[in-house]
Amino acid sequence: MASRFTNQVAVVTGGSSGIGYAIAKALLNEGAKRVFITGRTSKSLDLATTELGKGAISVVSDVAKLSYLQGLKAKIERHGDQLDVIFANAGIAENNQFDGTSEAKFDKTFHINVKGGFLYCANPAAFVKKWWVGSVDCIDCGQ
Ligand SMILES: NC(=O)c1ccc[n+]([C@@H]2O[C@H](COP(=O)([O-])OP(=O)(O)OC[C@H]3O[C@@H](n4cnc5c(N)ncnc54)[C@H](OP(=O)(O)O)[C@@H]3O)[C@@H](O)[C@H]2O)c1
Repeated sequence: MASRFTNQVAVVTGGSSGIGYAIAKALLNEGAKRVFITGRTSKSLDLATTELGKGAISVVSDVAKLSYLQGLKAKIERHGDQLDVIFANAGIAENNQFDGTSEAKFDKTFHINVKGGFLYCANPAAFVKKWWVGSVDCIDCGQ
């Protein structure tokens, strides 16, 4: 029986740990050709790609900053890939009490969890060479 992601190419933002790592692992187990995992910390990305094995590629990238999208796009293109699916998973859940949240903490969380998810789901054209001939599925992980 064919696996759901046979030969597909995926991006999993925040793929170096937790839910994102589990998604990347599941995609590779289900036949994905390549899974690009992103995060801000190269050390944890390298550890994750080593554990995930063949097919996993790390890309240092901050979802809150649009400028990082170009680096991700370039890496995907260097591999000759077209993107099939994006998991907009990266996010933070810092221990902020409702009545103790500062404006800076609110902005940081909003930039990563909301703006970051938006940037990755709203910009498939930034990732793919011929984006108009097909669709890119974007799954936001619900932060
Ligand atoms: N809706 C819900 O009920 C629910 C429940 C649990 C979790 N969640 C969400 O699901 C997501 C994953 O949760 P988790 O428990 O697996 O978290 P986790 O283990 O802390 O992993 C978060 C991942 O996101 C990356 N990350 C954080 N900020 C980033 C940024 N600005 N740019 C790129 N990557 C970034 C982290 O790597 P670096 O730190 O190296 O960047 C890490 O790889 C989070 O967004 C969380 O808020 C939602």
